[in-house]
Amino acid sequence: MTFQTLLRKKSIEHIQLDAAAGIGALEGGGSGLRRTLGVVDLTALGIAAIIGAGIFSTIGNAAYNGGPAVAFLFVFTAIACAFAALCYAEFSSMIPVAGSAYTYAYASFGELVAWIIGWDLLMEYAIGNIAVAISWSDYFTTLMAGYGLNIPEYLTMDFLSASRGHAKVTELLASGNTLDQVRSIAGMATAVDGYFAWIKAPVFGGLRIVCDLPALAIVVIITALVFVGIQESKRASNVMVAIKLCIIFLVIVLGAYYVKPQNWTPFAPNGVSGVLKGVSAVFFAYIGFDAISTTAEECKNPQRDLPRGMMYSLIICTILYILISLVLTGMVNYKQLAVGDPLAYVFGPEGVNIPWVSGIIAISAVIAMATVLLVFQLGQPRIWMAMSRDGLLPPIFSSIHKRFKTPWFSTILTGFVVAIPSLFMNLTEVTDLTSIGTLFAFVLVCGGVLILNASDQKIERKFKTPYVNSKYIIPVAMLGICAWFIFFNRESMASFFSLHDPADPAIGVWDVVKHKIPLMLYMLLAGVLTVYCYLRSLSLLPVLGLLTCGYLMTELGWTNWARFLIWLLAGLICYFLYGNRHSKLGAQR
Ligand code: ALA
Repeated sequence: MTFQTLLRKKSIEHIQLDAAAGIGALEGGGSGLRRTLGVVDLTALGIAAIIGAGIFSTIGNAAYNGGPAVAFLFVFTAIACAFAALCYAEFSSMIPVAGSAYTYAYASFGELVAWIIGWDLLMEYAIGNIAVAISWSDYFTTLMAGYGLNIPEYLTMDFLSASRGHAKVTELLASGNTLDQVRSIAGMATAVDGYFAWIKAPVFGGLRIVCDLPALAIVVIITALVFVGIQESKRASNVMVAIKLCIIFLVIVLGAYYVKPQNWTPFAPNGVSGVLKGVSAVFFAYIGFDAISTTAEECKNPQRDLPRGMMYSLIICTILYILISLVLTGMVNYKQLAVGDPLAYVFGPEGVNIPWVSGIIAISAVIAMATVLLVFQLGQPRIWMAMSRDGLLPPIFSSIHKRFKTPWFSTILTGFVVAIPSLFMNLTEVTDLTSIGTLFAFVLVCGGVLILNASDQKIERKFKTPYVNSKYIIPVAMLGICAWFIFFNRESMASFFSLHDPADPAIGVWDVVKHKIPLMLYMLLAGVLTVYCYLRSLSLLPVLGLLTCGYLMTELGWTNWARFLIWLLAGLICYFLYGNRHSKLGAQR
């Protein structure tokens, strides 16, 4: 292996030829997949992937921390996603094959980065689906309980939440509280559920059996659907999307009627830092528009329809999200929103008390999240398929089922990779990992467009991100931001450069500094990018995509970064053990 092999790039003609030849195709030539998707299907698939656990569940805590101003976070995040979507659209019109960001990176950065991104996308699709499956199970369990069907707590919860809940509640009981008192403490409801799950769980060989069975069940059902074929998945997804859009409209229109403007004051009760605590949850709510690029080989006219499908779905969801965040925070006080089912909650007894609406929302949440699962469960096998075509994964990953025309092995493996951890893993942790992994993919796709622009102007693309020269705009904007900090916001600058935590001087230097490393790194890279903008007149929109998505990454906390880096390291080990040695690009040289 030489350093050059890590940077070898796959030309776009080569990628297109490979996709057309379709390694693994069994009959009739072509990739073996069916071309059935049009722009409406793609927009529906985009919405299917976007609206899910984020808006039905994790937005609750984001609104609790940020107050009504969380609507601004939805705007800012949508802008960052729009820049990335433009770059995805440009790539997908240039390279309409199933590998999505993985293949785009192969053409622009070379093999090593392509592998990294392919590995990283597992965090978006597979880990993201674990999060959605867990959330789905929460709503499903509550819904069943509403019909008098109570599934035991120890079969609907992850091990960690149960053991943490048990420890927390036991401590409070030991200090003299009654169970009712503990239950009435804000934010303790989940801990009390965990407590009961733990004490009622059967014990085998000293181990308590606590797991999330509904999460496993839904993944198995969706995997079976995806295995059977894209046509069936498309129909199911279109129906489910129609239902969830109707419900979201209902929440907005009916909810607007109950908005009390005084709930919007104070607008940002915990300041900017409170709003930014919601980055992971809000970004998670937007993830998904990019997933439709993995169906490129199943589109009738991918070069025209994929860019449109992505942009349309993102625009529709952005408008809905901003309205929902304003309606939610206008209906009740933001402090009430720290719940796992905020949309149903505001119409429940503690909100405006319209039980039938609350019930309908719970049903639609179950449907909405199933569509996200469906699209992500479609996306992951197709990324693996593309990697396998390139030799970076064994050939079986791109084997297409004779009858169903789907990548059967990758689909089943994805089912296992999602189903097993969803039995045991904790929602917040998987949400955070998904967000950091996806943001990283967005950053690389924006960077990829810049590199391709610089390297090969002649590639035919049916969609091009509009070019605006960043030569002066970015340096002036950067100077403006620096000046603003120096003259108007010295306090935050001083606290950023301080080696101690003013709130707790006992905290060691490393414990203070490590949390600042992502932002320091970001500032350094932003500085370098600014110089490049000036020297090379880079295209403004991809640069803004890089800067905004990169910034959102810095808000995701040190622990996440550490886990993310460990994940990437594990990926590199796999690459050097298998991918680098079996790469088809290597074999052709
Ligand atoms: N955006 C998707 C969701 O919120 C991942 O469930």
